[in-house]
Amino acid sequence: MSYQNILTEKKGNAFIITINRENKLNALNIETLQEIKYAILSVQNDREVRGIILTGAGQKAFAAGADIAEFAEFNVKQGTQMSSDGHDVMNTIESSAIPVIAAVNGFSLGGGCELAMSCHIRVASENAKFGQPEVNLGLPPGYGGTQRLIQLIGKGKSTELLLTADLIKADEALSLGLVSKVVPIDTLMDTCKEYIQKISQKSPSAISKVISCINDHFKGTEAGFEKEISEFGLAFETSDFKEGTSAFLEKRSPNF
Ligand code: COA
Repeated sequence: MSYQNILTEKKGNAFIITINRENKLNALNIETLQEIKYAILSVQNDREVRGIILTGAGQKAFAAGADIAEFAEFNVKQGTQMSSDGHDVMNTIESSAIPVIAAVNGFSLGGGCELAMSCHIRVASENAKFGQPEVNLGLPPGYGGTQRLIQLIGKGKSTELLLTADLIKADEALSLGLVSKVVPIDTLMDTCKEYIQKISQKSPSAISKVISCINDHFKGTEAGFEKEISEFGLAFETSDFKEGTSAFLEKRSPNF
């Protein structure tokens, strides 16, 4: 399959997916997310692939969020569909039988942070920054952020980050357990490949069972994910959403 927004490459036993919208800081439009999903699914039966690396083009951003220009005119129905489809992509990544490693090479914000959190392991470059700034746009997170951030770093700190929209640097993300390692950007991909090299020595069937068991630990949290989709959709009929997205596109601060 040929892709418009991502690059894919097989290197040894690693399958590398690169979000390729560098001039938009790898913002995740709907087509990009669908391409990521299909790329992940395309290697599930490839016995040579023992790990997938997901990264962003350039040295500034992993992904700076969902594409604000694309959804700024959406209504409740479209917003709800966008969130529901995004959840499906994140769930596909999280349930991949082959481990997915996020090589976070810069801004990992909003949908970009949610994308990284759906991966099994996160490695950050020293310049990486994480955050869920959706409340600046009059929205709650819509791709699982309200749920997976709590799963990864706990209720207290995640509530703070979700309410303030504060961005955190890579070293703080490491201390919170949001990422496994912080490395210089030049060694980011090699570090991810080392993980895959190590994992490739293990039993693939056991690896997939571990992933499945870990995911089952969080079964029962569906209500939170469903609530997020519904609240995200409903936000699209608010004046705050109009003000927040207009402010971003007009390059000014919102006035709520
Ligand atoms: N959606 C759409 N376009 C985006 C984007 C997004 N989430 N994030 C960045 N871009 C675009 C900008 O509009 C700009 O495009 P332009 O050159 O055509 O004007 C380009 O990417 C570069 O971004 P810019 O804002 O100029 O870079 P910066 O270094 O000044 O700021 C950020 C970087 C990440 C702080 C800033 O881009 C930002 O706040 N992005 C949005 C983050 C966000 O709210 N994400 C959640 C979305 S749900």
